[in-house]
Amino acid sequence: MNVLLFGASGRIGRRITDELTERGHEVTGVSRSGEIEGVDDPNVEAVAGDATDADDVADLAAGHDAVASALGPAKNEEVDILPQMADTLITGVGRTDVDRLVWTGGAGGLSVGLDTKLIETDEFPDDLVPLAQAHIDALEEIRDADDLEWSYVAPAARIEPGERTGEYRTAEGQLVATDDGESHISMEDFAVAFVDELESGDAIHTQLGVGY
Ligand SMILES: NC(=O)c1ccc[n+]([C@@H]2O[C@H](COP(=O)([O-])OP(=O)(O)OC[C@H]3O[C@@H](n4cnc5c(N)ncnc54)[C@H](OP(=O)(O)O)[C@@H]3O)[C@@H](O)[C@H]2O)c1
Repeated sequence: MNVLLFGASGRIGRRITDELTERGHEVTGVSRSGEIEGVDDPNVEAVAGDATDADDVADLAAGHDAVASALGPAKNEEVDILPQMADTLITGVGRTDVDRLVWTGGAGGLSVGLDTKLIETDEFPDDLVPLAQAHIDALEEIRDADDLEWSYVAPAARIEPGERTGEYRTAEGQLVATDDGESHISMEDFAVAFVDELESGDAIHTQLGVGY
């Protein structure tokens, strides 16, 4: 598969890039500078692009089998940039023949029980509410993109650099947690789940929670 990956220079995006190339896929990795530190692979082409510019997105997406995102708000941006980038990717991709979008989402919008999202729980940190809400707003943009075969892949509550075990569980719309209530995943195993979904298309038009 020939994948255009936005956010390829980010912490999660670099792991998705590695997972894709390990499986023999070709990656066009987008960052604003056109640089992707720490990735040196002949199957990765680093290109400059702006996820807030639909013309850029359309130009870059053309000719790819799928568009993927590990986008996050840049440090100097408001978190609202995230739903804007979702909207822009949908608009840009919509001008091409590409019909597949796999998006890295947030855990806050996943359900933890009947009618309760993680963001609504007392334990959810106040300082993360705006970012979690921006992820929920991005999901709303993506949900409206009926013409696209989209998947919104959301990590566990805690996601950190770690080991690639290849083990994970998924749940549609639900936060994945262990029996003792721990919700976590390594970035490497999140990348495995993300690329599994990209390859299989098992969770099209789905908000998919991923965790151990
Ligand atoms: N538990 C959770 O819910 C949870 C936990 C962690 C992360 N996440 C989410 O997962 C996503 C990825 O996280 P991360 O830690 O890997 O983020 P990160 O390291 O901050 O990477 C963000 C990426 O977005 C790119 N980007 C930002 N603005 C852009 C623009 N206008 N045009 C093109 N690229 C742009 C950056 O590229 P540049 O090189 O151009 O800056 C970078 O590659 C984020 O949305 C984050 O909120 C969720």
